[in-house]
Amino acid sequence: MGDIERAWLTNPSRRKALARMAGLVAGSPVAAAMAQIDPHPLGEHRRALSLAEIQTIFDFEPLFFGNVSRTIYDYSAHGDGTEWSLRRNRQAFDWVDIIPGRPAVAVSQVDLSSEMLGLKMKFPIVIAPSSLQVNLHPDGEIGMYRAATAASNTMMMLSANNQTPVTQVAPAVTGGTLWAQYYAHEDLATTQQWVNTFNSVGCDTVVVTVDQQAAYYPRTLHDRNFGGRGGRGAGGRGAAAGAAAAPPALTGAARYGVNGRIWYTWQHFDALRKMVKGQLLIKGIMDPEDALLSIQHGADGIVVSNHGGRSMDFGPSSLEALPEIVAAVNGRVPILFDSGIRRGADCFKALALGANAVCLGRAARWGLAAFGSAGAQRAMEILQQELVQTAATAGCTKLSDINKTKIRADFA
Ligand SMILES: Cc1cc2nc3c(=O)[nH]c(=O)nc-3n(C[C@H](O)[C@H](O)[C@H](O)COP(=O)(O)O)c2cc1C
Repeated sequence: MGDIERAWLTNPSRRKALARMAGLVAGSPVAAAMAQIDPHPLGEHRRALSLAEIQTIFDFEPLFFGNVSRTIYDYSAHGDGTEWSLRRNRQAFDWVDIIPGRPAVAVSQVDLSSEMLGLKMKFPIVIAPSSLQVNLHPDGEIGMYRAATAASNTMMMLSANNQTPVTQVAPAVTGGTLWAQYYAHEDLATTQQWVNTFNSVGCDTVVVTVDQQAAYYPRTLHDRNFGGRGGRGAGGRGAAAGAAAAPPALTGAARYGVNGRIWYTWQHFDALRKMVKGQLLIKGIMDPEDALLSIQHGADGIVVSNHGGRSMDFGPSSLEALPEIVAAVNGRVPILFDSGIRRGADCFKALALGANAVCLGRAARWGLAAFGSAGAQRAMEILQQELVQTAATAGCTKLSDINKTKIRADFA
């Protein structure tokens, strides 16, 4: 051992610093989140992986953590309350077994292309709407859209809480498909304005998110580094780069306050239904009765989602809610699914339980935050490849083969 190394190891303040660092890592939310799922705990990441070395969605997560401020990280990573529903979203996938194919098939034989609501998909995987993507990386929403389009023309839903307005995102990529997510405004004139803007850029399919009515993620807003109630993540690379104008803002109190969005009613939805001339989907459905009401009120499709555990703590995982909703809807409208998707096997399980397509929330965000647009594209392609691999192992050559005969779910 050289002198310098010996001095370094025996210096008590260094030892203390190291011990503290280890404690920090062990107690960090990254470690907590990864402990559920990641086969490579944070402590094993000796250095930042390059894009070429990324093999699974989990590889992106520590890079995301390293790239952005704690504020930005916390905003994305956490869930409502005790985060029981956030954790359960992941755990539920472990409660579904995949039955091996009799026989398995070659990957080259698998073709998972399908059509849903006029959308031709090579893989039944799309991008969920998620907010403030410039904070993750300067490539932001345009980078995510570019990535999605490059990854076998994956459809992207643009969040209403974007940092690059739809008028800039939509024309930035040729040949892509962009749907507009929207949080309805109590004031119908404002709602009409939004719909007009969507129409003006060819975003004719609108997804209205109806969860997060009374609570919005209070844990982060109050307990973490988020600047208090109604604050928005700031200080990431994107913020420094100067994010584009935010959408017409609801005030903090209206968005996150005690009253939240409890003014949502079916009458309000009916008014929105008349305004949207194209397809209208409802996102945030977790109950079969709500799914049926959605259809009665003219929804063209639904998204089964608990908002990635950010909407209501102690609710079931989205995966557990899915089978009953699929049974109630009985094929009348397509069902999209999200919350907790991190692996191709997760996609497979949700599809087998009856979803027509799955949506990526954090998985795509991690890719974007780690490597910008190229990372987001890689994240999507990893999931596409893993899904094909899982389908092959389960003996499925086409999407309709992925059905409940290929799994065994134990949600008891
Ligand atoms: C940081 C973050 C921001 C989000 N912003 C929105 C949003 O603006 N609109 C929306 O409908 N859903 C939003 N979602 C929810 C996602 O659309 C999706 O339901 C959720 O991320 C799925 O869970 P997963 O992240 O575990 O995949 C957001 C999710 C996250 C993590």
